[in-house]
Amino acid sequence: MQDILKQLQDKRARAWAGGGEKRVQAQHAKGKLTARERIELLLDPESFEEFDMYVEHRSTDFGMAEQTIPGDGVVTGWGTINGRQVFVFSQDFTVFGGSLSEAHAEKICKIMDQAMKVGAPVIGLNDSGGARIQEGVASLAGYAEVFQRNVLASGVVPQISVIMGPCAGGAVYSPAMTDFIVMVKDSSYMFVTGPDVVKTVTQETVTQEQLGGAVTHTTRSGVADLACENDIEALAEIRRMVDFLPLSNRQRPPERDCIDPVERIDESLDTLVPPSPNKPYDMKELIEKTVDDGDFLEIQPNYAKNIVIGFARIGGMPVGVVANQPMVLAGCLDIDSSRKAARFVRFCDCFHLPLVTFVDVPGFLPGTAQEYGGIIKHGAKLLFAYAEATVPKVTVITRKAYGGAYDVMSSKHLRGDINYAWPTAEIAVMGPKGAVEIIFRGEIGDGAKIEARTEEYRQKFANPFVAGKRGFIDDVIMPHSTRRRVARALRMLKDKQLSNPWKKHANIPL
Ligand code: HXC
Repeated sequence: MQDILKQLQDKRARAWAGGGEKRVQAQHAKGKLTARERIELLLDPESFEEFDMYVEHRSTDFGMAEQTIPGDGVVTGWGTINGRQVFVFSQDFTVFGGSLSEAHAEKICKIMDQAMKVGAPVIGLNDSGGARIQEGVASLAGYAEVFQRNVLASGVVPQISVIMGPCAGGAVYSPAMTDFIVMVKDSSYMFVTGPDVVKTVTQETVTQEQLGGAVTHTTRSGVADLACENDIEALAEIRRMVDFLPLSNRQRPPERDCIDPVERIDESLDTLVPPSPNKPYDMKELIEKTVDDGDFLEIQPNYAKNIVIGFARIGGMPVGVVANQPMVLAGCLDIDSSRKAARFVRFCDCFHLPLVTFVDVPGFLPGTAQEYGGIIKHGAKLLFAYAEATVPKVTVITRKAYGGAYDVMSSKHLRGDINYAWPTAEIAVMGPKGAVEIIFRGEIGDGAKIEARTEEYRQKFANPFVAGKRGFIDDVIMPHSTRRRVARALRMLKDKQLSNPWKKHANIPL
């Protein structure tokens, strides 16, 4: 008996050792933690249950038969984050560069299948040289098995990817299909083809970091959602994110006791909107003053900054917040902001997260760049996403809600449940100046007349009461009472039921 126990201990020790001391040191020297160290930081202490520690690859070519390491380059299993179950895989770069073999893929698929059965998120910690080169097509097949599961799990369990090392070639498509991607600055990168191939094909010279580093993907491409300073920060952010999410679409988001009083009034909001309609103000101030304890987890904070998205709680209930940001491009909707918000709205709708929308939008951004880039199709994504969403939708218009963008931003007409406006709201086809220049084109040049017409238009339309008269706005509220009113609306809507007509799936303008 003792012998058997000893054998088990030895086998475990071999698996725990990964690629050996030298490779672990090399990993640390790059500022990266090992696969197991990462899992320890991600999960609650002592909560990790490992699967498949003894799995080995079955490859015999290129001397691989002599090179086997138990676990085969990925640590898989489940554990808890603040007591709530999650499944995790963590690629071990010290074992064959974390490359994906058939057996490695099978381990990932096993936890994905289990997560689907029990209804729990899948968190992937990616640090891999890609397909196991010695295995060829078996490895490609393994990737495709993972991809297929990513798609089937989409909208059923939250899927989160953390990129903590290389992620290149077709391997990028698994994270791309998950709900959120978090990257680590200076030690992670994602690209379809690396700098060498880029140089050969397009003669461009770029570094890995420039081509697909955390900063690139969170500021330019929008592929990733958060860029963190190091592994520790990235894993802490994932813990924070998971805390807002239900474990699956079969559950409701996790409510917490709320210490911050929902009745809390904030007088400073009464002066947030400046007297001049062209002057910006920071919409994040309103978000932070409305949500519980000012705790707002912003997603994609440095990409398409003209729209702000993220998670928060109001009265203890998790919500998704979407808000135009007047500080950037005057809060206009453009291609990037429409895509950014549309995907977020759809995520929230999948997982029963009510949508709280703050509106100050002068319209869609004009210009050839936008039209040639397909703003019509991309803007339609956001419209489609809001219109399709059946979760509770609470909207507050703080200032401008002009034109098509008014309709898009969770308006009453897209089944907005509660639509509030501040007294400073201007709900109209366009701003008074532009409107007058079109209707009274003949009078242009007569400054006084145009001034008078503009004022007339402003009085008539640039206020919330025209919309209020038609019931498009449920109430004009005091800015200082925004938190209380939104919290009450969400409470009222807690058991809202609404479903869309049966269909195989909709055809969102992709
Ligand atoms: C097998 C691999 C490997 C791979 C790395 N290793 N990538 N083994 N298959 N894909 C091994 C190395 O041999 C080495 O083993 C160890 O991992 C560490 O690699 P280094 O090169 O020493 O590390 P580093 O200098 O940090 O460079 C990391 C790297 C580089 C940039 C990832 O290893 C690299 O370019 N790897 C090849 C990447 C690649 O072309 N992958 C296939 C892409 S195609 P030892 O024993 O020396 O420690 C693809 C298609 C996916 O992935 C398709 C999905 C549909």
